[in-house]
Amino acid sequence: MKNFFLAPSILSADFARLGEDTQKVIDAGSDLIHFDVMDNHYVPNLSMGPMILESLRKYNITAPIDVHLMIEPVDSLIPQFARAGATFITFHPEATKHVERTLHLIKEHGCKAGLAFNPATPLCFLDYVLEKLDLILIMSVNPGFGNQSFLPSTFNKLRKARKIIDDNFLDIILQVDGGVKLDNIAEIAFSGANSFVIGSGLFKHSNYDNIIKEIRKELNHAHSKSIH
Ligand code: DX5
Ligand code: ZN
Repeated sequence: MKNFFLAPSILSADFARLGEDTQKVIDAGSDLIHFDVMDNHYVPNLSMGPMILESLRKYNITAPIDVHLMIEPVDSLIPQFARAGATFITFHPEATKHVERTLHLIKEHGCKAGLAFNPATPLCFLDYVLEKLDLILIMSVNPGFGNQSFLPSTFNKLRKARKIIDDNFLDIILQVDGGVKLDNIAEIAFSGANSFVIGSGLFKHSNYDNIIKEIRKELNHAHSKSIH
């Protein structure tokens, strides 16, 4: 198993060539595809729905797809995203009335479940559901837009979340989302994250192979620092 999972956010891809652009970042060495869903209600922006996910599967994108739901309410769309081909479904606890029920619904539909934390959302939402999670998503920007700046308070929150996971001997992916770039990814990894959503920091480059190689180099550096 790889130590670090790169998850390009296709919110920053070229929507007119979504299939092609998605395949390119997979061929360049990504592990997951991060699929941001916005509803102009939970967040002030609109993005993609289950039909676009289904089209990507039909285009033969076979990599795991990690669906980040920034929508409210959550439950009614879970079956549609599962049927469309989601691998992971992650939601924000404030956006659903019954967090445990929503987690159960995701599992019932054959997907892995994630819980997302906004910059001001406390980690106490983990207390009674930790063992049901496959992924914890720590937002390092307020959700709704790509290309925002990474909030430094995230480092401490990542360390706290990493400790909770390790103290409980759980194998939960700790993902970070927002403002991740080549120049901060090593420090983010060093703070405990093992999955990195990268939108503008990847898609603004014309050569995905080169930037992903550079990112992997930074991550290897963080890894060797953490084992010495
Ligand atoms: C923000 C989204 C992110 C976003 C990240 O609400 O959840 O996934 O696309 O984009 P960058 O990496 O540009 O901050
Ligand atoms: Zn996201």
